[in-house]
Amino acid sequence: MDAERGTQTVLITGATDGLGKAAALLLAENGFRVFAAGRSAEKRAQLDTLANEKKLPLETLGMDVCDDGSVQRAVNLVYQKAGTIDVLINNAGLAYVATVEDMTMEDWRRQFETNFFGVVRVTQAVLPKMRERRSGRIIMISSVSGLVTPPTQGAYSASKHAMEGLSNALRHELYPFEVKTILIEPGYIVTNIQQIAVEVAQPYQEKIKSGPYAKVYAGSWSGAKSSRRKSKTTPEDCARVILKAIRAPLPQARYGVTPLAATLKWAKRLLPDSAIDAMIRRRYGIMREG
Ligand SMILES: NC(=O)c1ccc[n+]([C@@H]2O[C@H](COP(=O)([O-])OP(=O)(O)OC[C@H]3O[C@@H](n4cnc5c(N)ncnc54)[C@H](OP(=O)(O)O)[C@@H]3O)[C@@H](O)[C@H]2O)c1
Repeated sequence: MDAERGTQTVLITGATDGLGKAAALLLAENGFRVFAAGRSAEKRAQLDTLANEKKLPLETLGMDVCDDGSVQRAVNLVYQKAGTIDVLINNAGLAYVATVEDMTMEDWRRQFETNFFGVVRVTQAVLPKMRERRSGRIIMISSVSGLVTPPTQGAYSASKHAMEGLSNALRHELYPFEVKTILIEPGYIVTNIQQIAVEVAQPYQEKIKSGPYAKVYAGSWSGAKSSRRKSKTTPEDCARVILKAIRAPLPQARYGVTPLAATLKWAKRLLPDSAIDAMIRRRYGIMREG
């Protein structure tokens, strides 16, 4: 709680775009004092201008979740300005797309550096004070890819499965201290993440077009294209679920966002792995060769 203003303070990583930006704006509109972190100076300036125009209690700050010093400086700055962090939203992320065999070890590490180690880094920076105060919420922006894995998304999905495991551990470890960890699991929502996925997949173009997995890539891109076309859920819808999770007196361990998340939740409970695998292979056109 911000001592001077009596409002709750939220720090959101990757808040300069997409789901993070929508959450930052909605939370500020609902009276939270929001610190919206990101790397891009240009996107930060745009968000600061928007917040000023709307007179929202929102300010941006620079933070690269892959950099120890940058994270520590940003977290210290929030403590200096607001005294506390009541809610941390671990949202920054990107998706590398390539088959397990094709993806370079460097890209595997990059994927985990942002989506997993970045989350650990920011959480470790924020936790000591939350734990001492015996109050706080950590919201983890996972994905349906933290539950099931489409082809060519092994690295992204593995990073989200790792986030799920991390959150499961935090729920137990922080139980004595009244700090709650909540997973948000969105399905496909149109944001810039898809364009960035295309950009970081550039080095794999040759393999995508004519390597041994060419048909797997083709199925995967057409599956993603069809998800993009059908997706009706907006970043603002996801922001509303985040707000609900922050406000719930007894929050659930995980909240799905999008109809796909609801379907998958029940499919995972009711169907054997073989049936889910068959559904995924059908969706992405994966067939035996020869
Ligand atoms: N969109 C979907 O369909 C979907 C579905 C499920 C889960 N998610 C998850 O939702 C989260 C947000 O994704 P999005 O769709 O909103 O993507 P987005 O529009 O591309 O936004 C990603 C944000 O992360 C920030 N970011 C990336 N790398 C960073 C780093 N090293 N340090 C700090 N910030 C970094 C970017 O800001 P800067 O470039 O300014 O740093 C940007 O603000 C991700 O964790 C993603 O996995 C998305």
